[in-house]
This record gives sequence, structure tokens and C-alpha cells, in this order.
Amino acid sequence: MGATGALEAIKFDKDAIRLEILDQLCIPYQTKYVRINGIEDAYQAIKKMQVRGAPAIAIVGAFAILVEASEAIKQKRCLYLTEFLKSIEYLITSRPTAVNLSKACNEITEMISNRFDTKQQIDLNVLNDIKNYAISLYEDDLRNNYSIGENGVNYIKKTLKEENFRGPFSIITICNTGSLATSGHGTALGIVRTAFSDLSKDAGEDFWVDHVYPCETRPYNQGSRLTTFELKFEKIPFTLICDNMVASLLRTLKKGKSVGKETAPVKFIIAGADRVVFNGDTANKIGTFQLAAIANHFNSLAEKSNLKFMIAAPRTTVDLSLKTGEEIVIEQRPARELTTVKGPLVENDKVLEQKTVSIATPDINVWNPAFDVTPHELIDAIVTEEKTYEKVDGKFKLHDFK
Ligand code: MRU
Repeated sequence: MGATGALEAIKFDKDAIRLEILDQLCIPYQTKYVRINGIEDAYQAIKKMQVRGAPAIAIVGAFAILVEASEAIKQKRCLYLTEFLKSIEYLITSRPTAVNLSKACNEITEMISNRFDTKQQIDLNVLNDIKNYAISLYEDDLRNNYSIGENGVNYIKKTLKEENFRGPFSIITICNTGSLATSGHGTALGIVRTAFSDLSKDAGEDFWVDHVYPCETRPYNQGSRLTTFELKFEKIPFTLICDNMVASLLRTLKKGKSVGKETAPVKFIIAGADRVVFNGDTANKIGTFQLAAIANHFNSLAEKSNLKFMIAAPRTTVDLSLKTGEEIVIEQRPARELTTVKGPLVENDKVLEQKTVSIATPDINVWNPAFDVTPHELIDAIVTEEKTYEKVDGKFKLHDFK
């Protein structure tokens, strides 16, 4: 168990400099930790998505760099900084869209290059600097996620009060942005958690979170495998939906009809981010743009809903060096992730074996971008650990976010 009482994606022993990650390919049926012995292991684990989520891959990257340095010293292996910095560059290429990983790696590189002669070998001074950096990255992420939760809830309260809304409401989310994607608590799912615990009917609030609808999140199913796992663990009521059910769900609840037994209207769609750029355009899991476009339709004159589309992102995800979302590199994933489903063969809650089953015609063209870009015009609020940004004259002013 981690600091948040939830499952830990990353386990790091500061004294032994030992790193383990929860193998997210085995969730929800198995909780298995795998050891990361250095940069190559981290590269493979990130690429295979045994660990995923923008903040988590940056933290694992930073800890893996530290483990690499520590192992070289322990084994008295000669490791020159020039060679070490090259392997950090290689680590960045494991996944290109989330800025967090490249930011952390580049900051470590800059720190080493500024303080040490790169012709020297790894020593204890270099090791200590990397250790301080990696531990702060982990600890700051955890603290910041709680602040994002609070800021998100304040935005929710403000919005519902302005509308004079009373009663239960629901939230839609996509992908997994919880403890498993971060050092703990989560970003978008962190807001859901904080809202669920802080806005309660029993405490006499005017409005409260009644239900959550996590999207399945094809093709990798982070929603159905990981978010449902976290929501169930937290005892937050939810109903899983496919990505293509969102418009129907909104329409059904808006008409006062029920979804199963649920009737609370959806008031917020909350997503995380892999990169938020200068104008507020945001890259996140494929399907996020579609959610924002649907929200926009429901807010149109024809529908007149008051549905807010929120992005939750820490400072480490903001990249002011890119002006618009056009400049973001979108990772393309292998075709087999779309044409097959992977899952365990389970009997009596016991995993017998992992199976891969084909679900498409062989030898066909497949397009599999892992992320899409939501234009800032469709985003109502960007919630960070410092504050919530709302548009002024149609524009996000993220300039002060250093
Ligand atoms: O491909 P993934 O699972 O790494 O994608 C993750 C997301 O898109 C998350 O929304 C994002 O990284 C934020 S996680 C706090």
C-alpha cells in the first residue's frame, strides 16, 4: 500500500536505491511488481506500457537513471558521464507525447552538465544530485495531485453555484489518471476522488457526486482495466461505458431517463493531459478530443446543457515551448494493439494464463495514434496545482505558469 492508501504504481527504496513498478499489463487480475535495474529496463517497461501515465513514466525514468548510476558505482563499473547522458537521451525516445518524461530527463542532463565535467566518471556527488532530483519529483507530484484535487473541487463548486444547481451529479472520465498514473491520488481521477469525499449529501452540501462513468478507452483499455480497478478500490459508485456511448449517455440522463438505476445528470467531463501547450491546446489519450466535441454539442443552443470540460494537469505536463497543439508529436502504437485483445484466462479468480485473441481481419490497414489534441476552444478549465485557468476573451493565459 502506498501513502494514499491506494495501490502504488512505483515502489522506491531510498536506502537500497531499488526500484520496482507494478506491472499494469496484469491489472486487474494480478498485482505483480517487476524490478527496474536501470535505464534499459525502464525504456522497455515504458514502451510496453507496464508503467504508463505522464507523471508516472517521468518518475520511473528519473528513478531508473538514479538506479543506473548507483549500480555502476556499486559494481565499480567505469561509466563516463558522456556515455551516461547518451543513455538518458535514449530513454526519452521510449514515448514521445507526454512532456513529463523528456522534461525530467532533460533537467537531469542539464543539472549534470552544469555541475560536473562530462569527461569524468559517475561518482557519489553525481549520484546524490540525481537522488535529490528524483525524490523531489516523486514527492512534489504526490503533493501537487492533492492540490489539483482541491482546485478542481473549488471550480466544480463555483460552477454549480453559479448555475444554482442542486442535487446529485455525475462525472465522465477517460483513460486512467489516478494513483496508477502518478505517484498517488491522481490528476483528473484525483479531482473525482476529492470531489467524492468532499462534496457529500450527508455533510449537507447542496450538490454531490453521485456517479462516475469511466470510458473504456480503446484500444488499450486503461479505463476498463485500471480506472474501474481504482474506483472499485475506493468504493466510488461507477458504471463502465464504451467510448462510443458518451453522447447517448448524456442524452439519456438529460431526458430524465435512467442508465441502469442511475439518473444523476453529467455536469463535468474531466480528463488528464500528456502535454498542455502555450495556447491551452492539450494532448491526452485518444478519444479525449471527441469527448470535448460532444460536450460542446451539448452546450450548444440546440441542447442548452451546462456541461464543463475540464483538463487536470500538473506543472510538469505544461510545455510553454510549443505554441499550439499542431506541434505536438503524437505517438503511433503498433497495429496489433487494435487488432487483438490481450487478457488473462481466469478461473475462480485465478489467472491461468495470458491470452491474445485476434478481433480483426488479418493483414488490414490500421491507424493507431495513442493520443489526440483537444483544441483550447473546447476546454473550459485547466486545473493545475497552483490554480485553475479559465479562458479570458476566449484565450487561456498560461504565461505565468513557469
Ligand atoms: O497511454 P497512457 O496510458 O500513458 O496515457 C495516459 C493518459 O493519456 C493520461 O490521461 C495522462 O498521461 C495523464 S495521467 C495523470
